[in-house]
Amino acid sequence: MTALTHSWFKDIDLKRLAEQAGTPVFVYSEAQFRKNLGRVKDAAAAAGLGERVELYIPFFPNSNPHVLEPLKDVDGVGILVQLPSEYRILREFGFEKFIVSPGHVSDREIAFWDETGHPTFLASLDEVAYSLRTDAPTISVRIDSLDSGKPGIKYGELGQLAALLKEYERDLEGLEVYCGSGNSLEEMVGIVEQVFSIYLEHFPTARSINFAGGHGFDYDAWTESEKHFDWHEYFRRIAQSAARMEIPEDVTFLFEPARDVLADTGALLLDIERGVITTPVSSILVTNGCRMLMPSAQLRDRNHNVAFLDSAMREITGGATTSAAVRGRTILRNDYILPGDVQVPEGVGAGCHLVILDVGAYCATQHMEFLNVPPAAEVLIAADGTMNLVTSAGGELDKWRHLLTEKTPVKQ
Ligand SMILES: Cc1ncc(COP(=O)(O)O)c(C=O)c1O
Repeated sequence: MTALTHSWFKDIDLKRLAEQAGTPVFVYSEAQFRKNLGRVKDAAAAAGLGERVELYIPFFPNSNPHVLEPLKDVDGVGILVQLPSEYRILREFGFEKFIVSPGHVSDREIAFWDETGHPTFLASLDEVAYSLRTDAPTISVRIDSLDSGKPGIKYGELGQLAALLKEYERDLEGLEVYCGSGNSLEEMVGIVEQVFSIYLEHFPTARSINFAGGHGFDYDAWTESEKHFDWHEYFRRIAQSAARMEIPEDVTFLFEPARDVLADTGALLLDIERGVITTPVSSILVTNGCRMLMPSAQLRDRNHNVAFLDSAMREITGGATTSAAVRGRTILRNDYILPGDVQVPEGVGAGCHLVILDVGAYCATQHMEFLNVPPAAEVLIAADGTMNLVTSAGGELDKWRHLLTEKTPVKQ
């Protein structure tokens, strides 16, 4: 078994890809994305929730409309947006099924969303009051089950919310509750039951309950079954709780998974610039990447799995290895792409390549312009195997694309 045994990445003509698109390049698989969506939907059907479950994949973790195109044709699947600009671009690309979770916003922005008619999960009593006063077509709310700093109506405000709705003789369409990432499946089921209790106590006429995201993905695992969230067990338990707590069968259940359906659809291909440099201080592997291409790895202390390719793009496996840190191409002291060391096989040097796996969510979208490093290109491998450039690499002067040639006085 090799690092790429389980990855769609091994089937690609990487030589052609690197020649045409250059490196660094993010590569995405349509087939893997469809497979991941199918896995969640199959699990819902197996638990008897097939007709009741809707998925809304958040746009911000991978903001490429080409990559997300399958969301247009898979049944029961839509897209979650948070900004009018996201909505506008997705409409231009022909997306139609949306929900909106905008955080805290102005009256003007609420009016924009109300005009679209899509369920919009408002995050405070003040924002809900505006929608009620303006006779919004539909009212949904976001509840902060963790009573944290996250946008959302707090537990202690639910009575007030119910009274406000009553005053205007309106019902909630949906309630969204973020169940929190990093929770065990058992804890997540506990939160589901809490949400059902909120529904029953305060909003028994709501049409949908939205459990948001936070469904774990194991970046250290290699096989698909180990990496992905256990949707079978999760849905089975939700179906059990819903039946026991007598949640009406026509109430739909919404989910907003990002990592679980997107992470293993992407890989980052880099050039290795020279053999491992070992000094009395450390061993480093010099690449043409940069931590600014995917800052989430360092920020979240996430060690993505990697693979090494020779100059003919064949995977290098076996033999002795040297433990080394993956160095980016800038002078910054901590320009290390991954937080930990990788095991570099003997013989890896200039002309070889490094593949960083599971970068389909929260990676290319978080690219920072710090250090003047332009963003990487993105290539989508279609389900039939054809390759398409979907984002061109940032130009050499990308960092300065909005720089004015002349200072322009701000008008008095
Ligand atoms: C409102 C909302 N929905 C969905 C998600 C996706 O979460 P995950 O990547 O854990 O599935 C997030 C992540 O920040 C979120 O804030």
